[in-house]
Amino acid sequence: MATATPEQTTSQRAEVVLDVIRTRRVVRSFTDEPISDADLRTILEAGRWALSAGNRRINKFLVVQDPKRIRLVRAVSPGMLARPTALIVILTDTEKAAREQVQLDKDLNTWIDVGTAAQNMSLMAHALGLGSCPATSFSRSGVAAALALPPTMLPEFILQLGHPAPQQRVMRPGASTRLPIDALTFWERVGQPLPRR
Ligand SMILES: Cc1cc2nc3c(=O)[nH]c(=O)nc-3n(C[C@H](O)[C@H](O)[C@H](O)COP(=O)(O)O)c2cc1C
Repeated sequence: MATATPEQTTSQRAEVVLDVIRTRRVVRSFTDEPISDADLRTILEAGRWALSAGNRRINKFLVVQDPKRIRLVRAVSPGMLARPTALIVILTDTEKAAREQVQLDKDLNTWIDVGTAAQNMSLMAHALGLGSCPATSFSRSGVAAALALPPTMLPEFILQLGHPAPQQRVMRPGASTRLPIDALTFWERVGQPLPRR
């Protein structure tokens, strides 16, 4: 067997990561098959290793698989179009935030931390062959009541998870468009295009 050079290993790894990033699409149709504990733990591990401003880590993750509680959450979440078999709710731990001297009403980094964890987890779900979809349109007080959250834990983001229904495995052409890199990026100065390759 040929031994990969360090360069090959790096570029192969980059290809794998880019492929996972590029092929992930939100999934809003799931089968009833539950997600294994091992897969949930791998997704949580991806969330655990997300970027975090100042490494303060003021978020907690709440896994919900009880169908009744998922139904209760759906009832107060207009953004939940799917019928997921599991949720990971990203919470802000306000006690931890206070210990870290984070001013929740002023510090925009707290939202970025939620996004980095959510992105890592949705990419890992996809890498495992699972589907995910965010929900940010929900009643905070309704979700807090549905999940019996203590008042110190604020629900920020819901990641809906499940096994994609078969029709979801086929990507609709043009279903989710992306601007080309040239249209997104300036080089050194605003207005200056990327150099030609
Ligand atoms: C911050 C944020 C909030 C979102 N909220 C919802 C939501 O409430 N419900 C939903 O179905 N999708 C939601 N989405 C998913 C987007 O609609 C989806 O990522 C976008 O249409 C691009 O599709 P793609 O991720 O498949 O490329 C949200 C995405 C982000 C980043």
